[in-house]
Amino acid sequence: MTVIEKLKLPHIPFLDGRPKRLLIDGQWVEAASGRTFDTFNPATGERLATVAEGDKEDIDRAVAAARRAFEGPWSRVKPAERQRLLLRIADLVERHFEELATLDTLDMGAPLSRTTNNRQRALGMLRYYAGMATALHGETIDNSLPGEIFSYTLKEPVGVVGAIIPWNGPLTATIWKIGPAIATGCTVVLKPAEEAPLTALRLGELLLEAGVPDGVVNIVPGYGETAGAALAGHWDVDKVAFTGSHLTGQKIIQASAGNLKRVSLELGGKSPDIVFADADLAAAVPGAAMAVFANSGQICSAGTRLFVERRVYDEFVGGVAEFGRSLKVGNGLDPATQVGPLVSREQLDRVTGYLDIGQKEGARALAGGSRLTGEGLDQGYFVPPTVFADVKDEMRIAREEIFGPVISAIPFDDIEEVVRRGNATSFGLGSGVWTRDVSKAHRLARAIRAGSVWVNCYQAMDPAVPFGGYKMSGYGRESGKQHLDEYLNVKAVWIKTA
Ligand code: NAI
Ligand code: MG
Repeated sequence: MTVIEKLKLPHIPFLDGRPKRLLIDGQWVEAASGRTFDTFNPATGERLATVAEGDKEDIDRAVAAARRAFEGPWSRVKPAERQRLLLRIADLVERHFEELATLDTLDMGAPLSRTTNNRQRALGMLRYYAGMATALHGETIDNSLPGEIFSYTLKEPVGVVGAIIPWNGPLTATIWKIGPAIATGCTVVLKPAEEAPLTALRLGELLLEAGVPDGVVNIVPGYGETAGAALAGHWDVDKVAFTGSHLTGQKIIQASAGNLKRVSLELGGKSPDIVFADADLAAAVPGAAMAVFANSGQICSAGTRLFVERRVYDEFVGGVAEFGRSLKVGNGLDPATQVGPLVSREQLDRVTGYLDIGQKEGARALAGGSRLTGEGLDQGYFVPPTVFADVKDEMRIAREEIFGPVISAIPFDDIEEVVRRGNATSFGLGSGVWTRDVSKAHRLARAIRAGSVWVNCYQAMDPAVPFGGYKMSGYGRESGKQHLDEYLNVKAVWIKTA
């Protein structure tokens, strides 16, 4: 009996031997090389599916299709038609949501309690971009030149977009790249992560069903060093939208230099989450815990450096550790599971490596601290919620992105000090502040150098509110009006009227 049967999940026809191929120019095709790769369920180590492995030649074909579509009929499609298309995609995603959420769970491990909770987010994004499709416009600008000369701007789609995404939220990551592209009239070549390509492929089927024209969205699974690098370096790609590690982000920039393509980067973080003694601590304990333990810590903006005011440090950090121990870790298909496995063996090794480093550096594990095995977990990649106390700023576990369910808890004494220490990182993606003092909240909101500041909450996201990085967490914004601008060129037009 398979895990799915045991857990009585809906049957997923997509997983029944249907070939998983590349979507190029509206057709499902094999890789030019004929090669394939396997994707695994990280809760059990079992092979889930075999997927066509795209490479440079496939990327070339996909980019050519995207270019033809961009210059062809797609360029004449009116905003209202792009809007209807996005609304049809949203309706199809809604109808097939359980299946898409389950595929995310199977392919990358996040519990169903999380992936099915993403419904509002996934649908909200698609419908937001649908709304924005008919709300894009240039401006008329009064210039100061002598005589009668009129100036205005046009907003035009940048062209062919190479989208490269990670594995930590396949469904929403795919929508986050494809949605704005369709809204603005761009075309896309999407490379899903090799660890979790299935949801993007199933979504590709739904895109065709919704009537996305040939070549407008192409999906080429494959490895980063081959397919991803070919896309990032491609001469005929106008923009790369990348989400992933800062190290790969640096390679993307180098690869982009050939044709000076535009780049937007959403990279990692080591976000400070700052708890003042005056906060509602009963709310802050689960808030600070889930700021890291959600998705097993595999969230770029996770609040992994937990700064706690010294007078409540022991009590608060003890509470977070207790909360962490109370979370149910297990196979994500079990509806009771709150924390699933890490995505892969590689990620397990990386995270357990940091657990060892933390202990060697002298930090004290109040919860977790080593790999979780036993009770059907042995074949999976499980790490329990871990809380390190006695962490010093200079320790590696306080400086490097771990991307696992690991909190580094650090005491502080006053506000100036915590601002300085909170900002002493090369990253700047998320941040949290817990306080009942409104002036402290506003002071920190300005002082923290990060793209998001969450006060008395963590990880709130909305399609209308921009998200992105400062410093080495990248540049460009996703969500909000700014996101659409990332996919648009501004053209100035001058007309002499006399
Ligand atoms: P990665 O950045 O290497 O991979 C992300 C995507 O980039 C994947 O689709 C991959 O195939 C592609 N890629 C890899 N090398 C490439 C290249 N040379 N050119 C073009 N595309 C390339 O991240 P990975 O290996 O999955 O995870 C490593 C670490 O990165 C994690 O431990 C975590 O710290 C961080 N990370 C951050 C994410 C975020 O959301 N900001 C997401 C995933 C990982
Ligand atoms: Mg997988």
